[in-house]
Amino acid sequence: MIFRQLFDSASSTYSYLLASRRGGEALIIDPVLEKVDRYIQLLNELDLRLVKAVDTHMHADHITGVGALRDRTHCITVMGEQTKADVVSMRVSDGERLTIEGVELDVIYTPGHTDDSYSFALPDRVFTGDTLLIRGTGRTDFQNGDARAQYDSIFNRLLRLPDATLVYPAHDYKGDTVSTIAEERAFNPRLQVKSADDYAALMASLHLPNPKMMDVAIPANMHVGLAQGAVAARGWAVSAAEAHALVGRPDVVFVDLREQCERERRGVIEGSIHAPYPDLADHLRQGGLLQRTGAGKRLLFYCAYGERSAMAVQAAQEAGLTSARHIAGGMAAWRIAERALVA
Ligand SMILES: [Fe+2]
Repeated sequence: MIFRQLFDSASSTYSYLLASRRGGEALIIDPVLEKVDRYIQLLNELDLRLVKAVDTHMHADHITGVGALRDRTHCITVMGEQTKADVVSMRVSDGERLTIEGVELDVIYTPGHTDDSYSFALPDRVFTGDTLLIRGTGRTDFQNGDARAQYDSIFNRLLRLPDATLVYPAHDYKGDTVSTIAEERAFNPRLQVKSADDYAALMASLHLPNPKMMDVAIPANMHVGLAQGAVAARGWAVSAAEAHALVGRPDVVFVDLREQCERERRGVIEGSIHAPYPDLADHLRQGGLLQRTGAGKRLLFYCAYGERSAMAVQAAQEAGLTSARHIAGGMAAWRIAERALVA
């Protein structure tokens, strides 16, 4: 496996680049905006194709790099389902798997630092975000933080991972880079408590100053979404209500860009074909699935929220499929329109 731990000294943030092989797909966890050039250079040097950029939670101390990475690599942006960030094109929830070629991460919901905090585990290591730090834990005093929830996330989820599991946090302020579950259980001063109440009392006694970047970072991190408006302005968007009227039309092909796990959880539009977004470039090549399917027909892309489909419709237009459109707002908007139709 290719594994890189990258550091942003301004915010003391660790970002992690994962891939199974040179020339293959890559995933990055907690990228920082100011470091995006560095990530792109490293991806090129290692001959990797970034397909997913993941934030463990809404950060308050730096501006996320996921939006810039999406703009430059057309990768999928991923956060947990509770997030309020508009950048996200795929939302994951507890118990799901986050996958790229050759790498499968278990998705663990670990609220407490924020209500959208997630950890991501491989068999030998876990990326804990700001839930569990090395000899510390993430603060719980803002962003819907909750010390009791964090106690539960740490003691009943993370500390139940095998003792030797490597712990890779989103930050370190002292120069440590990695720990293990057993080490943290034994030596993390915040974890030497008897109960959730003890832990909550400990966290309440900290009285930490707000992060320097908080007033800038949180609003910025909430609004880095792709301008679906720009795609709409070019006439390439169809509203969910309009799309409902196109079901069953022989000249329209609905194209589902989501992954299999999303289709199973959220359902599919009847009669649609499945062409996952990471394979889009292959499908749009001469002779590819979408070139063949789109001949003489209108392709109507959809995904979860309209982010991947907005990128896909631009790529399809560039590949000569000028009648391609996408469903604005994706499956989320489709379901709302569906309820309106029934009512
Ligand atoms: Fe944080």
